[in-house]
Amino acid sequence: MTSHPPVTPSQLRTVLGHFATGLTIITAATPDGPAGFTCQSFASLSLDPALVTFSPARTSSTWPLLRAAGSFTVNILPAEHEHLSGQFARSGSDKFAGVGYTASPLGNPVLDQALAWVDCELHQEYDGGDHTIVVAAVRALAAREAAEPLIFYKGAYARVHRTPALQGALA
Ligand SMILES: Cc1cc2nc3c(=O)[nH]c(=O)nc-3n(C[C@H](O)[C@H](O)[C@H](O)COP(=O)(O)O)c2cc1C
Repeated sequence: MTSHPPVTPSQLRTVLGHFATGLTIITAATPDGPAGFTCQSFASLSLDPALVTFSPARTSSTWPLLRAAGSFTVNILPAEHEHLSGQFARSGSDKFAGVGYTASPLGNPVLDQALAWVDCELHQEYDGGDHTIVVAAVRALAAREAAEPLIFYKGAYARVHRTPALQGALA
């Protein structure tokens, strides 16, 4: 068996940062008020049953609050929410300061101008190393048309540049 040098966290961050994603803020209504955290690791998982997945860090102080709430809303961020991505990544701060929102069907915060939102209930949690893999059941969802997504790529925020030809083909 060939031996490989161990993969380092820094290598993982640099190389896997080439995988461009959208960004979300996952929110819930808790007994102590609204809670939420910025989350890149969101993905669709299953159509039937309707499931999505995301991975909170074991160190997250917000995930235990969302888990206890049992239901939460994935807010998919539009380009204009770059500042909220930073705001909801600061542990221990008043993350909802100056943030407008309405209640989802399950009663969780839907951020004003969210590109889309997905109302979920906790389905399963699995071990994911220093993260936990959450599988959530989708109960309701909606999208805002005519808005652009916020993108995260190589550790920085980016925006989508769609070519006119491709836009036409997908219309
Ligand atoms: C662009 C970006 C993407 C992030 N993605 C994740 C993620 O997928 N999972 C996670 O646990 N934390 C992620 N974070 C970090 C959390 O937002 C942050 O650690 C968390 O909000 C800390 O606060 P808490 O202790 O209130 O949970 C991300 C932060 C940023 C800025």
